[in-house]
Amino acid sequence: MEQEQSERGIGPEYLVAGRYRLRSKLGGGGMGAVWLARDTLLHRDVAIKQVTTTAGLDPDEARRVRERTMREGRNAAKLAHSHSIAMYDVALEAGEPWLVMEYLPSRSLAQAMNIADTLPPLEVAQIGAQVADALTAAHAAGIVHRDIKPGNILVADRGRELGTVKISDFGIARAKGDSADTTNGVITGTPAYFSPEVARGQDPTEASDVFSLGATLYTVVEGQPPFGIDSDSIALLHRVAKAEIYRPSKAGPLTDTLLHLLEPDPARRPTMAEARDALARVAMAGDGNVAHLVGSPVYAADGTIPAWAHRSTLLPDSRRRSKLVSSTQAGLPAVHQSTPLKNVPRPLGRLQWPPRPTKPAPGSPAPTVRDQVVAWAPIAMGVMVAILILAVLVAVIVLLAQP
Ligand SMILES: Nc1ncnc2c1ncn2[C@@H]1O[C@H](COP(=O)(O)OP(=O)(O)OP(=O)(O)O)[C@@H](O)[C@H]1O
Ligand SMILES: [Mg+2]
Repeated sequence: MEQEQSERGIGPEYLVAGRYRLRSKLGGGGMGAVWLARDTLLHRDVAIKQVTTTAGLDPDEARRVRERTMREGRNAAKLAHSHSIAMYDVALEAGEPWLVMEYLPSRSLAQAMNIADTLPPLEVAQIGAQVADALTAAHAAGIVHRDIKPGNILVADRGRELGTVKISDFGIARAKGDSADTTNGVITGTPAYFSPEVARGQDPTEASDVFSLGATLYTVVEGQPPFGIDSDSIALLHRVAKAEIYRPSKAGPLTDTLLHLLEPDPARRPTMAEARDALARVAMAGDGNVAHLVGSPVYAADGTIPAWAHRSTLLPDSRRRSKLVSSTQAGLPAVHQSTPLKNVPRPLGRLQWPPRPTKPAPGSPAPTVRDQVVAWAPIAMGVMVAILILAVLVAVIVLLAQP
């Protein structure tokens, strides 16, 4: 593809659709490259996304890629929200669509994690509440994002908007009711952030967006995704389909809310609006105004914009970059699993001693008998071990006391 691009002269100064002059490459994911460009008509900077070229694809596949891009443009254009990257235009260049978007000088959460290994729970809760606010609006418009992940959450790193959080890349989102672009049993997205039902081949829904948001926030607070890291996407997909996440250990006050977002059974997850409110309550430590929190730039515990969000905080040698790079992939095979998701036990809360069953998150349905058995199991185990030790001690004392 790089070779095709250079043959067509795509690079700095290239003029797309007679209007957008490319300046520099901002990055490139699994579905295309993003450029900073100048809109020569309106004299403003834009971000322009060249979706993977259709050259070399068979005509059907090429048409599907073009249709997906147009759909992405139409979906994103329906949304106008302060925490969502605005879609300005779809420009056709040599018959291929390019998406023209609001440019936010920013750092993605995936990039932020190259600076700070993990982000503090209160900052993550605040970011989560803001993204959930934008996604609540998307869901109300009938749009499911389908690819929520750290690389698609941007935080402004300079200027007037410093600290502002926006979700980008409704890359494979589609309005519900649009014709599907995947055949049955084939999935597109980023495996590390899939919900279990999507890994099992179901169509993404609002509830699967809730799970992916939970998985994204889990990753930035814990330093790795809920199902761990695996360069083999198929092996990872199997772990996702089983729905057993690693228990979070660094999420502190965010733990219960995260676990609620990451419920294996989609029916037990909160709605996006409930998720936003729960995340906002964590961020405000139960005290404050949700609307105010959602409208502010992200701030650290001392009230300042965190260091990782500043452009002046340099990226180190990207030693961990490969660990968390996770590109959108198309054509993954769905995994068959016989255990219904409603029978998968909820993950337990943070490790505590003495162990106590975790309180259900606010708004969650009453725990089932199975949940309660699982929750009380560590205590029962502890009591049994104590009884055994006591019995052995008594036996030893009795034996020693005999003449
Ligand atoms: N609107 C934007 N304004 C500024 N920078 C952006 C914008 N959109 C994307 N970027 C930058 O470009 C990078 C690449 O974006 P892109 O969406 O192509 O890849 P990704 O999200 O990392 O992966 P994928 O394509 O697999 O979703 C992002 O990480 C971000 O830093
Ligand atoms: Mg992206």
